[in-house]
Amino acid sequence: MKEKGNLPSWEIQRDGRLEEMFAGIVPWYDFLNRCLSLRRDVYWRRELVQGLSLPPRPLILDLAAGTLDVSLEMLRQHSQARVAAADFSLPMLRQGQEKLNRQGQGGIFPIAGDALALPFLPATFDALTIAFGVRNLPDRPAALMEMRRVLKPGGMLAILEFIPPERGWLQKAYELYLTRLLPWVGRVFSRHAYAYAYLAESIKNFPTAGAFCRELQEAGFREVRQRRLTFGVVSLFYGEKS
Ligand SMILES: C[S@@+](CC[C@H](N)C(=O)[O-])C[C@H]1O[C@@H](n2cnc3c(N)ncnc32)[C@H](O)[C@@H]1O
Repeated sequence: MKEKGNLPSWEIQRDGRLEEMFAGIVPWYDFLNRCLSLRRDVYWRRELVQGLSLPPRPLILDLAAGTLDVSLEMLRQHSQARVAAADFSLPMLRQGQEKLNRQGQGGIFPIAGDALALPFLPATFDALTIAFGVRNLPDRPAALMEMRRVLKPGGMLAILEFIPPERGWLQKAYELYLTRLLPWVGRVFSRHAYAYAYLAESIKNFPTAGAFCRELQEAGFREVRQRRLTFGVVSLFYGEKS
């Protein structure tokens, strides 16, 4: 595996530096999301939530919730929802909590927790969302099983993730964006040497959409479907707990 900074990405995921890395970019996280995606990230999260079919007064888990943008979008679209917003980074959750305080928002409950050992009873949630989080999980099959465990039977999993284009001119343009522009802009603003280089590398290392759909099926999800957004640079994946 090619190295970026001091460690290859899989080691960063395993040795605790990933948590440290997210803590380091908190002040710039929301700003850089809007800036680097030309505000498309707001639309992507809106579409993620819109694709869910939910019962009345649903109980939702927003996993890898970060600064709570998906949780807030959930309440915008489903005011009766109750959202457990879980993340292993307390600084990210604290930044999100400040947004909740500013907006006077109830209904969202930030909780410290690791995706690989979720602090919830089995069959608790009507739906589980994870935006730009699944790519960071060191043991993806185990994490998907854990997500399945906490969903009620028939509960929906909704994933938003960067998927590298597989071929064509877009693949070349995207490669340049990922390996040159993104790490440079990220470094200039956040002054965090490897965070945005890690982002680029983790996107390149993510499986193809087809392979990821198979992983979801193997983890026990049915009705797995993918929807590409914005020329296919990100995808939504949905599945139901069978
Ligand atoms: C790129 S951010 C995405 C945040 C948010 N979902 C969004 O849409 O902006 C990834 C988040 O995943 C969290 N994360 C990474 N690995 C995790 C794990 N094993 N368990 C819980 N959270 C994790 C990080 O702390 C970070 O807040």
